[in-house]
Amino acid sequence: LAASSGFLNKGSLTFPSVKINVRRVRVGSARQGHKVIAASAPETWMAPDDFKSAALVSSREQYQEMYDRSINDPGGFWGDIAEEFFWETKWDPENVVKSNFNMDDGKVEATWFAGGKTNIAYNCLDRHVENGKGDDIAFYWEGNAIGEDSTLTFSQLKDEVCKTANYLKSVGVKKGDRVIIYMPMLNELPIAMLACARLGAIHSVVFGGFSAEALAQRISGSLSDVVLTCSAVMRGTKSIGLKDIVDKAIAITSAEGFTPSTVVVYDNTRAMAKEDLPMVEGRDVWWNEVMSSMSTDCEVEWVDAEDPLFMLYTSGSTGMPKGVVHTTGGYMVYAATTFKYVFDYKDGDVYWCTADCGWITGHSYLAYGPLLNGASQVVFEGVPTYPDAGRCWAIVDKYKVSQFYTAPTAIRALQRSGDAIVKQYDRSSLRILGSVGEPINPEAWRWYHEVVGDGRCPIVDTWWQTETAGHMITPLPGGWALKPGSASLPFFGVEPAIVDEKGNELEGEAEGLLCIKSPWPSMMRTLYQDHARYETAYFSAVKGYYFSGDGARRDADGYYWITGRVDDVINVSGHRIGTAEVESALVTHPKCAEAAVVGVDHPVKGQGIYAYVTLMEGVDYDEDLRKELKVSVRSVIGAFAAPDTIHWAPGLPKTRSGKIMRRILRKIASNEIDQLGDTSTLAEPAIVDTLIDLKGNVK
Ligand code: WTA
Repeated sequence: LAASSGFLNKGSLTFPSVKINVRRVRVGSARQGHKVIAASAPETWMAPDDFKSAALVSSREQYQEMYDRSINDPGGFWGDIAEEFFWETKWDPENVVKSNFNMDDGKVEATWFAGGKTNIAYNCLDRHVENGKGDDIAFYWEGNAIGEDSTLTFSQLKDEVCKTANYLKSVGVKKGDRVIIYMPMLNELPIAMLACARLGAIHSVVFGGFSAEALAQRISGSLSDVVLTCSAVMRGTKSIGLKDIVDKAIAITSAEGFTPSTVVVYDNTRAMAKEDLPMVEGRDVWWNEVMSSMSTDCEVEWVDAEDPLFMLYTSGSTGMPKGVVHTTGGYMVYAATTFKYVFDYKDGDVYWCTADCGWITGHSYLAYGPLLNGASQVVFEGVPTYPDAGRCWAIVDKYKVSQFYTAPTAIRALQRSGDAIVKQYDRSSLRILGSVGEPINPEAWRWYHEVVGDGRCPIVDTWWQTETAGHMITPLPGGWALKPGSASLPFFGVEPAIVDEKGNELEGEAEGLLCIKSPWPSMMRTLYQDHARYETAYFSAVKGYYFSGDGARRDADGYYWITGRVDDVINVSGHRIGTAEVESALVTHPKCAEAAVVGVDHPVKGQGIYAYVTLMEGVDYDEDLRKELKVSVRSVIGAFAAPDTIHWAPGLPKTRSGKIMRRILRKIASNEIDQLGDTSTLAEPAIVDTLIDLKGNVK
């Protein structure tokens, strides 16, 4: 399969094959009627004085002073912050951070707070309960349908976490074991994560939109003996049977020789009647039954700062998804600190992040960052457009949300429903708006700012990744002027670098590959059981640097503008998808001989998936086949990765060595036929015209 789709020819990301691909963010000129504070382009917006003076960081000078210390004395800077948490044993103050980014000097590695022992679940819960905050609300849970809601205080949450941890212990889960969590956004999802953390077990959350095959890969990849799931979930008006998908996944792993011993099923009666769900004797238990008899006391397992906390799979430019591993101490300190400063968190705030815990945003800025700060937050099960496009604003109004954090794709989708539905709701509680997951186009930025935030709220456009685990380049809301479309400046402790195609770091105003040149506390430590791939995928492209896979430009004010992925990763609605994964899913269809996938601009999703498909000899294309091919991707990865468009391709443009020229495919897909560039190196240049002719039959 790999050979037929050609993607493995590419090998791991090597430097000369990286093409800087600047295509997404443009500095917009001010539109008519738009309030622009700075008269000259590029437009900027600065928080009002009263906002700034109340903010944790209220000027660029204050930031600069803190930033300089974080870079010149990382041990002192982060060590002081780490003191605010509970450590059972203190780390070695002489060795807060140790790292090596250069493979020639041995293994790439980083450690933070080594020797220190702590527990992140204790710091999220017990610490606050012991400090008299037990009755504060931790979660305002809001269900899919209007009227479904509940709350959990910090002490109630701690009790639930302890019960769950005790149950996990009773079925043999101990420190270092992996546990799969395949759940919707019920409180039980973060509860399960925290329960694992309390025991020192490594959670591996799998987003509920992944298919049985993708789930199976993640179960057998981590050899997780326990799977936590839920009968079914309502997505808008549709019920999705998660337990059924788990059954199918385990059938796949069992055929390969691995069968988890325990499946814990939360009985979600709103989506499915209990009687309708077949349970496997001896393997499946009902969450609601087994937890009820568990004690609310559960001793904390003190773990080393460098013991793994979780793994989370993410897509890369080649091959199968990678199991990114994060450890405990540095992650805890960084998730908490970024949350505090980026959202300018103050007691009494109600924070809401719309992300699902199946993605990194839901880990760092739902499960951990807010709880570490003792924040009250909304946990939302549903989707922004159900029952209508006013749902988010209704929730903001209902809970008096102060910080709202979402993805540009949601903003663009809601923008399409017009301003009137936003204005029906009171949004005066909002203080800060956040954006994550993909570049935010200036038009969406302005709408978010002007309409949702009534022109009052700073927008924190946070650039970061599963691998970085926390915000890397982001505004601090009271710190400096914002420019729509720019993530602005690096967070404390982060040293970005713009590097050219030869691997030289560029100074001043520059555009190139976005790299990071020194360790930060929450950087990923390895890929699960594959340290060699960790080194080649992230540290070999640019010697001595972490290479992010993104391109960026730095302007005269030192602001960074993320220009999007420069590798073969597509960002669809803020979800990272490897073109190679979609291609290998397409070629699982018996009639598909070869496939090549590229990203194209999409007005709502940011990027859409555009697939060129070559059929087996003698097979004719038809509409049914088009549907079947999409179904193949749905069943191998999940619905969110299904191609938007399929372009029948009798052949693909390849170099003489067999490498697919995606640059040309991207141009044809985007109707930029006049910019195809040099096609003379192709083995068969005529194929380009054939593909252009076939555009008429693209759907
Ligand atoms: C993209 C999500 C521009 C980027 C937290 C990155 C962004 C990938 C931004 C990581 C942003 C994320 N502006 N691009 N503010 N935030 N990205 O691992 O391409 O799901 O490499 O982590 O999303 O996606 P991931």
